[in-house]
Amino acid sequence: MILTAFLLAAATPAVHPGEEPVDPYEISDANAGAAPFAGDAMFRAFNGREGIDRIVTTFVGLNTSDPRISDIFKGQDIVRLNRTLREQFCYILGGGCAYTGRDMRSAHKDMGTQTADMNALVDNLQKAMTKEGVPFRAQNRFLAKLAPMKRDVVER
Ligand code: HEM
Repeated sequence: MILTAFLLAAATPAVHPGEEPVDPYEISDANAGAAPFAGDAMFRAFNGREGIDRIVTTFVGLNTSDPRISDIFKGQDIVRLNRTLREQFCYILGGGCAYTGRDMRSAHKDMGTQTADMNALVDNLQKAMTKEGVPFRAQNRFLAKLAPMKRDVVER
């Protein structure tokens, strides 16, 4: 009896309350939405993996507590978001990381994101990069890489 209960529990996928698994997708760096910068100058300007990790932590914290956009993040898997954003930033900045998240269109599907939400998000990213001491020229080069993703993220 106890063994049966154990086996049943083991066969049930580990889904936490309020957290849905994402739809199946093929893992590929192409999902990151931009080609990486050549060389390691950008990666160094962001203070490497540790700098990127700090920037993403600050950035996600700002977004989830920003009254302009925090509702959009409610009920989402923030642990996963931190991980995949770190990978995406590290990959694009030339840090040689692999990106395991979804493509930008799938990840932001049916979120109803508007241009004002995108602007708020960029504002928060600038704050996080400035806090880390990333030079403005490097900040702007990175933002220019992300800008074309707007068409896959903003819906109306
Ligand atoms: C160029 C702009 C953006 C980039 C590069 C970006 C990047 C990402 C990445 C890498 C993920 C994780 C995908 C995954 O884990 O499979 C994600 C998810 C998410 N993004 Fe964005 N994002 C952008 C714009 C926005 C905007 C404007 C909002 C709303 C204000 C937003 C809200 C979210 C939310 C709520 C999730 C979690 C979705 C889920 O887990 O189902 N993003 N984004």
